[in-house]
Amino acid sequence: MEIGGQDHFYLEGHIALAIPGEDRDVTVYSSTQHPTEVQHMVSHALGVPSHAVTVEVRRMGGAFGGKETQGNLFACIAAIAAKKLGRAVKCRPDRDEDMIATGKRHDFVADYDIGFDADGRILAADFVLAARCGFSSDLSGPVTDRALFHCDNAYFYPAVRAVSEPLRTHTVSNTAFRGFGGPQGVLAAERVIEEIAFATGRDALDIRKLNFYGVSDRNVAPYHQTIEDNIIGQLVEQLEVSSDYRARRVEIRDWNARNRIVKRGLALTPVKFGISFTASWFNQAGALVLVYADGSVQINHGGTEMGQGLHQKIAQIVANEFQIDVGRIRITATNTGKVPNTSATAASSGADLNGMAAVDACRKIKLAMSEFLAAHWKVSTDSIVFDRNRVTSGAHSMSFSQATQAAYMARVPLSATGFYKTPKIHWDRASGRGHPFYYFSYGAAVAETSVDTLTGEYRVERVDILHDVGRSLNPALDRGQIEGGFVQGQGWLTTEELWWDDKGRLRTHAPSTYKIPVASDRPRIFNVELADWSENREPTVYRSKAVGEPPLMLAITVLHALSDAVASVADHKICPRLDAPATPERVLFAIERLRAMSNAGAAA
Ligand code: MTE
Ligand code: MOS
Repeated sequence: MEIGGQDHFYLEGHIALAIPGEDRDVTVYSSTQHPTEVQHMVSHALGVPSHAVTVEVRRMGGAFGGKETQGNLFACIAAIAAKKLGRAVKCRPDRDEDMIATGKRHDFVADYDIGFDADGRILAADFVLAARCGFSSDLSGPVTDRALFHCDNAYFYPAVRAVSEPLRTHTVSNTAFRGFGGPQGVLAAERVIEEIAFATGRDALDIRKLNFYGVSDRNVAPYHQTIEDNIIGQLVEQLEVSSDYRARRVEIRDWNARNRIVKRGLALTPVKFGISFTASWFNQAGALVLVYADGSVQINHGGTEMGQGLHQKIAQIVANEFQIDVGRIRITATNTGKVPNTSATAASSGADLNGMAAVDACRKIKLAMSEFLAAHWKVSTDSIVFDRNRVTSGAHSMSFSQATQAAYMARVPLSATGFYKTPKIHWDRASGRGHPFYYFSYGAAVAETSVDTLTGEYRVERVDILHDVGRSLNPALDRGQIEGGFVQGQGWLTTEELWWDDKGRLRTHAPSTYKIPVASDRPRIFNVELADWSENREPTVYRSKAVGEPPLMLAITVLHALSDAVASVADHKICPRLDAPATPERVLFAIERLRAMSNAGAAA
C-alpha cells in the first residue's frame, strides 16, 4: 500500500526574530514547538553557552509537528546575522519557500503478509514499513518507530514481525506531523483488516471486532506491553448503535443496487494511540507559578501554544487548584529563561506534562499560604480550605487577595517551581521490549461517502465520531481538536497530494496545486461525541487524556468508506486496494481497474 505524505500548511509560516544583547547574549522570538531545542541550536551555531540564548514563543499560528525541529534553521540564520550585524534580524520565508524548504509527513510504502483463519481471525502478521526520510535524519528514527508501534492499531497479533525501512532520499528532510508515523502504521493495520474482510466475504466491522485486543487475555502488544485500559469494544459497540451502522449498511446495499452512477460506501474504523514520548527522558515538564500580593497569578510552563488551547487548559488547572476565577490568571509567553530544559510540545502530551507541573507548583504555594494562615488563625493546616475566591478555616475567612496580601506582609514566599515526570514508562529499543506508553487514547468513527463512478468525484455525506478524552479538561477545546484533527486527516487521505519531480523538487508548493480541505469539504452531517463515561485509569491531571493527535486517525474511515463505494462496482468481490491520497483520479482509476477485472472474470 502506498501512503502519501502531507504538508503541514499551518496558516502562519515559519518566522524568527533575533535581537542581539550585551556580551554574548541574544534573544530569539521563534515559531517553534521546542524552544529549548532552538536555544541549543542557536548556542551551537554561535558557539556560546545556553545561558546566553533566550528563546521566547508567545504563540504559533498552527504547527502540527512542522515546528518541532524545522524552526531551528530560521532561528539560527536570524541569530547569526543579528550577532554579526549588531542589530535585530527577522527571517521569514513566504509560503512557497516554506513549503519547499521544510520537511513534511513521511510518505510510506507498507508491505504486509498476514495469516488468518477461516473466520478472519489474525494468526500472524509481518510488516515492512518503508518511509521517505529525505536528505537528513531529523526525526525519521522516532517517526518510523512510532509507525511500528501502531501497526497493530487496536488488534491483537499472536505472532508478529514488523520492521521499518527509513530511506534516505534526494527530497526535503521529512519530520514530525500530527500522529508522528502512527497514522501510517494504523492505516497499514486497517488495510490488512479490509483485505481479510474481502478474503472471507464478511463485513469489515465483524473482522475488526473479532481481532480487537482482549480485556484480560489477547492483550499484549507487539512491543510486549500489556494493554490494561482497553475500552475499544465498549466504544465501538456504542458507536455502532448510535450511528445506526447495520441498518445503513443494508440501506446502502439497496441504494447501490438501484443506482448505476452514484455509489455509496460505509466504514467504521477504530483508533488506539499510545501516549508518551518514546524517548523516555522527554516525558518531563516544569512550571513556574508566581502569585502577586494583589492576588493575581502569573504562570509560565514549558509548553507552547499553537492553537490547541494548551494555555487555556493550564490556566483552568491553576484556577482550579487555587479555586479562583480563571480571569485572575495570566499565562506568559513560553520562555527558556523561566523554565529550563523543556520538551517539545508534542506527542499530544502538553497538558498531561505541563498541567501536572503546574499543579505541583500551585500545591507548594498553597501549602506555604496554609501554614501561614494556620499559624495566624491558630488552627490546623489541614483545616485551611481554598474555595470560591476565598481562603477559610471554620469561622475564619479571607478573600484570596486578602490572603495573598497578608502572606506577603508576613514574608511568606508566593512563587514556586513545579516539576513532573511520567511514571511507569520504560523502553529498550534494542530488544523491542518495555512499557513505552503510559496509557492509550481511544476513538472510533463511521463515515459514509458517495462516489460518482463516471468521474471519481466524491462527497463525505456523514461522519459519526465517538472519542475518548478521559475526563475532559475542556469539552469545547477537545471537540475542536477532534473535529480539526479529523478534517486534517481527511485532507491527508483524500486531496492533499505532494508531487516531486525527478530532481527531487517539490512541484506542489502553494494552495493553487496543493489542496487542503476547505469548509465545504467537511462532512455534510458531522456528529461528534465524547465518551463521557471514560476516565483515565492512571492519575493524570484530573484523569484527563491527551487529545491532540489521535483524532487525525479517525479519518481513516473516510478512505475505507470510499473504498467500500468503489468495491460496489464489482459487487464487493475484489478488494480495491485504494492508495492514499484517494484523489478523484485515484478513485476513478480504482473503479476502472475493478470493472476491467470483474469483466475479465465474467468473460473467463
Ligand atoms: N491543534 C492546533 N489548532 N494547531 C496545531 O498546531 N498541533 C497538533 C495538536 N493539535 C496542533 C493542534 C499536534 S501535532 C500535537 S502533538 C498537539 O496538538 C500538541 O499540543 P498538546 O500536546 O498540547 O495537545
Ligand atoms: Mo505533534 S507531530 O507530536 O508535534
